[in-house]
Amino acid sequence: MVEVPCIEAKGLVRRFTADDHTLTILSGLDFTAPAGQSVAVVGASGIGKSTLLHILGALDKPDSGELHINGQDVFAMQDAQLSRFRNRNVGFVFQFHHLLPGFTALENAAMPARISGLNAKQAKEKAEAMLERVGMSHRLNHRIGELSGGEQQRVAVARALIMDPPLLLADEPTGNLDVKTGALIHELLCELNQEKKMTMVVVTHNMQLAEMMQRQVTVSEGKLILEQ
Ligand SMILES: Nc1ncnc2c1ncn2[C@@H]1O[C@H](COP(=O)(O)OP(=O)(O)O)[C@@H](O)[C@H]1O
Ligand SMILES: [Mg+2]
Repeated sequence: MVEVPCIEAKGLVRRFTADDHTLTILSGLDFTAPAGQSVAVVGASGIGKSTLLHILGALDKPDSGELHINGQDVFAMQDAQLSRFRNRNVGFVFQFHHLLPGFTALENAAMPARISGLNAKQAKEKAEAMLERVGMSHRLNHRIGELSGGEQQRVAVARALIMDPPLLLADEPTGNLDVKTGALIHELLCELNQEKKMTMVVVTHNMQLAEMMQRQVTVSEGKLILEQ
């Protein structure tokens, strides 16, 4: 039996119109990743790494092209179906954690589980287990503003993984952290990739992290190429 790739993107085109001209950031980009693979997306600022990652996570739609995640045609889905699909299949870690500041670590990590329909008790149990996994058991009831940058990013990783998604996307997850804290988050991501056999695509400027991934790619003239 042929295994369905976790990610299969074909002919992605994404243009932005600024002032009176159009920028073509992705110009027919193809990207396939088998289940369980870890991929680093590297390269200079402005080449379209975040644009690509947002499309792979269905947070943004391309002007044309197709995306299948685990064999499912993502952009053919209606909004409600797409939200549900994303909730169950894709974890996203942003450069700036995007956690809700007025809420605790536990409440933030539990949010996707609540959205999925689990009751408060079930969601809390899941969140506690995931926060323990990322080494945050001692800060469950701290509000986000009371945590360090590295701790906030651990909570963001816990939130991204609480639904046990087959796909984790991370956009410069350690771009704002000191070297030591960044290295700990890198190790955590690699451990989780091994442990959960999830597919992982990480945008990073950190070559040490990139080299921990099985494959390194970059975007050149709107297309995906192997990093030299
Ligand atoms: N919403 C937008 N409107 C206009 N231009 C955009 C938008 N998003 C991104 N861009 C432009 O697209 C290019 C690629 O952006 P991005 O994907 O964020 O790059 P990277 O993540 O590689 O630094 C940049 O030149 C950026 O200014
Ligand atoms: Mg970016």
